[in-house]
Amino acid sequence: MPVISFISPKGGVGKTTAATLMATQLARKTQVIIIDADPNRPILAWSQLSGCPANIRIVSDANQENILDKIEEAAAEAPFVVVDCEGTASLTVAYAIGASDLVVVPTQGSQLDAKQAAKALSLIKNTERQSRRPIPHAVLLTRTNPIIKPRTLSAIHEQLRAHGIRLFDTQLHEREAFKAMFSFGGALETLDPSQVANIDKAVANARAFVAEAIELLKNPDAVPAQEVA
Ligand SMILES: Nc1ncnc2c1ncn2[C@@H]1O[C@H](COP(=O)(O)OP(=O)(O)OP(=O)(O)O)[C@@H](O)[C@H]1O
Ligand SMILES: [Mg+2]
Repeated sequence: MPVISFISPKGGVGKTTAATLMATQLARKTQVIIIDADPNRPILAWSQLSGCPANIRIVSDANQENILDKIEEAAAEAPFVVVDCEGTASLTVAYAIGASDLVVVPTQGSQLDAKQAAKALSLIKNTERQSRRPIPHAVLLTRTNPIIKPRTLSAIHEQLRAHGIRLFDTQLHEREAFKAMFSFGGALETLDPSQVANIDKAVANARAFVAEAIELLKNPDAVPAQEVA
């Protein structure tokens, strides 16, 4: 049932990577439909490599005209729907936001990226106003270094928090395994450890992200941990 969309007007911030991680982790336990709403169809390409989990079905003919139907049909059929959007602020993206139970805004840790994330957040706010309902959403910092915490990143963290924007506690780190999924196909768990380093760390990272997203879906009004700390 729940629909989780990945949006950002900035290209290359990790939407498709995060969406695929979300879908493959959820698919360990249940059926997932991924709506590949990017005209470049990167998730369709991934699914055509070997090892796409049997629990995942890809809808690859979504466009501006039919996206709402596609999302509605998928939500009626599968326990989870993941929507991967293109890196622009199109009408398709706005429709996907309006039909979502959770919107994830992946962002890399530079000031420029934070500015683009602000655009995504204002698109969500406008959609909330238009639909007169709150749309749970949170920023996901991506491609961060698991060891070094640069000052720019802390500054961005603070800025977002100061504006009352929810951030996932989990950051998706820069990991070879996240890239490798798109070279070899399948999920993190089916990658070959002799070819890809630190798969276990990547799996732990992806699972922490998904667990937090599920928590947000269950309890969208809970005060984020970062504000309690
Ligand atoms: N956490 C990560 N660790 C390592 N590589 C990553 C990570 N996130 C993304 N990448 C790499 O960065 C590139 C862009 O990622 P991705 O395609 O997920 O971004 P996107 O936001 O979907 O881009 P687009 O706007 O073009 O759809 C890809 O080469 C991907 O493998
Ligand atoms: Mg993408």
